[in-house]
Amino acid sequence: MTMLLKNAEVFTPEGFKPRDLFISDGKVFVLAADSSETTDAVRIIDCTGKVIVPGFTDVHVHLREPGFFYKESIATGTAAAARGGYTCVCSMPNVKPVPSTVDALRAQLDIIEKDAKVKTVPYGTITMEQDGRSSLSDMEAMAPYVCAFSDDGKGVQTAQLMEEAMIRAKRTGKLIVAHCEDESLLHGGYIHDGAYARAHGHRGICSKSEWIQVQRDTELSEKTGAGYHVCHISTKESVEILRKAKERGVDVSGETAPHYLILCEDDLQEDGRFKMNPPLRSAEDRDALIEGIKDGSIDMIATDHAPHSAEEKAKGLAGSAFGIVGLETAFSVLYTCLVKKGVITLEKLIELMSVNPRKRFGLEGGLIADGQPADLTVLDLNRSYRIDPARFASKGRATPFEGWEVQGKVLITMVNGEIAYEETDA
Ligand code: DOR
Repeated sequence: MTMLLKNAEVFTPEGFKPRDLFISDGKVFVLAADSSETTDAVRIIDCTGKVIVPGFTDVHVHLREPGFFYKESIATGTAAAARGGYTCVCSMPNVKPVPSTVDALRAQLDIIEKDAKVKTVPYGTITMEQDGRSSLSDMEAMAPYVCAFSDDGKGVQTAQLMEEAMIRAKRTGKLIVAHCEDESLLHGGYIHDGAYARAHGHRGICSKSEWIQVQRDTELSEKTGAGYHVCHISTKESVEILRKAKERGVDVSGETAPHYLILCEDDLQEDGRFKMNPPLRSAEDRDALIEGIKDGSIDMIATDHAPHSAEEKAKGLAGSAFGIVGLETAFSVLYTCLVKKGVITLEKLIELMSVNPRKRFGLEGGLIADGQPADLTVLDLNRSYRIDPARFASKGRATPFEGWEVQGKVLITMVNGEIAYEETDA
């Protein structure tokens, strides 16, 4: 269907400009604002007072299918993505069968083909069993179908295995995307090893379990020349290691998640909604992560959307499963807590959520320019609302942002010129 989006503030490669957008054949064409040009648009949408940005891309989501349909499905997870303004997601490989061969990957690709509401590109694993220990996966055969290789949920436990993985991944031109966690340092911990854990008798996860592998892997990336990306960075040490590696010109990048930028251990409650891996860390770590996104040491924000059943999340901090949902709250909480408070600009947030992830992972789009795929998000930055998990499209409902009053609402998400989500709330 042809469409005309009129009178919006559009995020163009030159920054925000008043423009009209004509959508035809799945592509976008940028017209002067209030264009008098006649178009044959079948639908005209007045976007006065709204902004239009390149659709967000989340390089770190758990869609749980195949294998864990009771937690999430590709249909519900990508509906959540569309509702959150995302036009592209990369799905993590802790599913069953484990995508370590093309045959196993096929099961997931078939469901994506049938059910995905936004562009969905799966990860292949690094190791055969996605356990950070077994032999390497069939990277070469999977490469044409995957965004990158990751054992997310598990750290690669030896330097030798990581080096071999990097050498293999480099030949395919794909990144190694690492969940950094040295299991020998965990000792059964489940929240940050800090003041809250000590005061409330919880077992802690030390920061070193993360940064020791970031350090090892940035050195291996330097040695092998492989492209390397760090998942869900949560510690100040990891930020500094990445910053230094970038200064040396190493081919490294990293993501952090909204909850690490907005919350810290001081916000913890005895509730599964506050449990994820890595954990919420100290205020100092949170502040270092904010510095990291500001100076480019951290390249992008990903949600680590990790849905679980209500039962799995009802066992407090000690007993609940690790993981919170994030796709349907990310933009609003980041806009409210970082942009509205003057910590970063809206342009910077769009770079972190749209432009940089696509660039780094070689995914199409991320740009509003003539002839580009019409992957767009229409936002009302003046609308406030209360986060109500009962309204989520995701099956997962556990979020630390439940009940928050936030500003900035997704009105329309468009993928290849088709509307994937349109707000119907009163
Ligand atoms: O909190 C988390 N949940 N961290 C991970 O690394 C895995 C994820 C999951 O799959 O639930």
